[in-house]
Amino acid sequence: MTGTAAWVLDRCDDLTRYSAREDALERVYLSPEHSAANTVVAAWMREAGLDTETDAAGNLWGRRAAAGAPQRPATPGEPALVLGSHLDTVPDAGRYDGMLGVVLAIAVAHRLRHTVLPFALEVVGFSDEEGTRFGKALLGSCAASGQWDAAWWEQTDADGVTLREAFTRFGLDPGRVGDAARRPQDLVGYLETHIEQGPVLESLDLPLAYVTTIAGARRFVLTVTGEARHAGGTPFARRRDALVAAAHLVTRIEELAVAAGCLATVGDLHVQPGAVNVIPGRAELTLDLRGRTDADRDALWERIAAAGQEIARERRVTFEHTETHRAPSTTCDSRLSAAVASGIAAVVPGLDPALPGAPSDGAAPARVPGLWSPAGHDGMAMAAVTGVGMLFVRCRDGISHHPDEHVELADVEVALDACTQAVLALAHQEAR
Ligand code: GLV
Ligand code: MN
Ligand code: MN
Repeated sequence: MTGTAAWVLDRCDDLTRYSAREDALERVYLSPEHSAANTVVAAWMREAGLDTETDAAGNLWGRRAAAGAPQRPATPGEPALVLGSHLDTVPDAGRYDGMLGVVLAIAVAHRLRHTVLPFALEVVGFSDEEGTRFGKALLGSCAASGQWDAAWWEQTDADGVTLREAFTRFGLDPGRVGDAARRPQDLVGYLETHIEQGPVLESLDLPLAYVTTIAGARRFVLTVTGEARHAGGTPFARRRDALVAAAHLVTRIEELAVAAGCLATVGDLHVQPGAVNVIPGRAELTLDLRGRTDADRDALWERIAAAGQEIARERRVTFEHTETHRAPSTTCDSRLSAAVASGIAAVVPGLDPALPGAPSDGAAPARVPGLWSPAGHDGMAMAAVTGVGMLFVRCRDGISHHPDEHVELADVEVALDACTQAVLALAHQEAR
């Protein structure tokens, strides 16, 4: 049953076993679970007729030649169409964000294993899309697109382990990370299937959409420093409470983001010394910013930084920031998007493949919906070396980054058909 939607969902269930926690799914970059997941997914790739390899940044690749025979990944010669997504997760994750796209890509490769294509076909399981461990997201796809920045080596995880040390412990050589870079001339495109992670498809009562653009994101660590003192002995006028200042900042960030039409999230907060009878002397917050355009997002950041300084003055604390991640917004490639839209129109009744998406007037067939993705994806990095296309699959209640993440079998069935049709549409174009 390899290659069916039921197989895809069963394999997403299987992957929940590779977790750092017994009670929840958490699989971060360069962890023992990352290694174990790569091993099991590589076995599924080989069943689908792909040869496999883990690259110099821990990404897992599978490949077959145009004629169908397994072939070592990154073999020079025939350029490859790459299908895939990521295998890492956020803490207490759902089972489909990332994993669905990798496993579905393997199912597509299995379905096409006897089909001669005008390009090699590769499947990738990227190793770090979320940035859960080191704060910097898209590490796997940045390595694969030749955008590794040496400044990242000293970023640390929550235990103080640097990225460089984590590489070595995983059995990777930091000095060879450049070997993971793929060359534009070896790639036909990167096509990713992903759950929508939002409510739009559900509201349209449609299972699938193609993606038009992916939001540009920036992430920061914000540090507010005041003074730790006795909770009983310090009158309010003498306090320099870092947490109260941080709390004001958090609500201000939300107000500014709403006014700017952007998204801003403080997702983590640590207070020191963290005792019931000590006024907090230091608060460290993470900030994730996203906007439809990079200019909107950057203008919002300027306002947040100014608000941080203003609150710091008022409350006699200091405000500092470190940027941990920045990715530009990405426009999907028109050729890949057209192939995805034609794949969707071929399998979802009542849709017209014409681009761009527009609402139906009721009489004519509805256009295939094209959605903006406020969530980040590996395509943001891969766009530096090849065209990127994305297929979105409806997920229940739009919920993601939560264990309740859910996709319907029937939606995965049409996603599998649509992705296969998209590959065939690209093959047809390429062969002309
Ligand atoms: C990835 O899921 C992101 O958008 O943060
Ligand atoms: Mn995610
Ligand atoms: Mn994802």
